[in-house]
Amino acid sequence: MALQIGDTAPDFTADTTVGKIRFHEWLGDSWGVLFSHPKDFTPVCTTELGYTEKLRPEFEKRGVKVIGLSVDAVGDHERWADDIEATQGARPRFPLIGDPDRTVANLYGMLHPKADNTFTVRSVFFIDPAKKIRAMITYPASTGRNFDEILRVVDSLQLTDKHKVATPVNWKQGEDVIIVPSVSNDDARKLFPQGWVEHRPYLRTVKQPS
Ligand code: BEZ
Repeated sequence: MALQIGDTAPDFTADTTVGKIRFHEWLGDSWGVLFSHPKDFTPVCTTELGYTEKLRPEFEKRGVKVIGLSVDAVGDHERWADDIEATQGARPRFPLIGDPDRTVANLYGMLHPKADNTFTVRSVFFIDPAKKIRAMITYPASTGRNFDEILRVVDSLQLTDKHKVATPVNWKQGEDVIIVPSVSNDDARKLFPQGWVEHRPYLRTVKQPS
């Protein structure tokens, strides 16, 4: 059955550009973002990996380890990194899994045969420190992902874990958030003493808790 939100992220051992890793051990107590891309030496993937490297400090600031995967071998990833550095101005320093036998791709359902028989689609798995899958995104090969959106999802997950709030449409760090409907007004007065705006009884917005 396909992986779902709330499932434990499957563990695996794999060769990567930083050596052999056991996934759960490598994650440790961090959050994780595991993403697949279809193929090395392809244009969209080249831009995605360069941009992800540029965002690495932002992921680190949030306690998130990022790891990529394609069904090519680690040697290919390493040779391709030269091109990524030359064209994107950033050489991936985060690990890239080599998965030529498709073990990890199959574990995570990253192969969608109706899209492509051979190559992984653009999957993203957000994994929390308890190793639970907290969110997933899937794009086809022809659509490069928005890695700022991936950071935004991390921000929402981390914020909503700490406070009884949800994040509205297009929310960004620092903007108002929504008090979850399960919190009564009596409880909300204790949790949000600065008050909130009640647009409807079920739609109450409040300054983002820090
Ligand atoms: C790309 O990364 O550019 C790409 C990969 C596979 C199919 C189409 C585009």
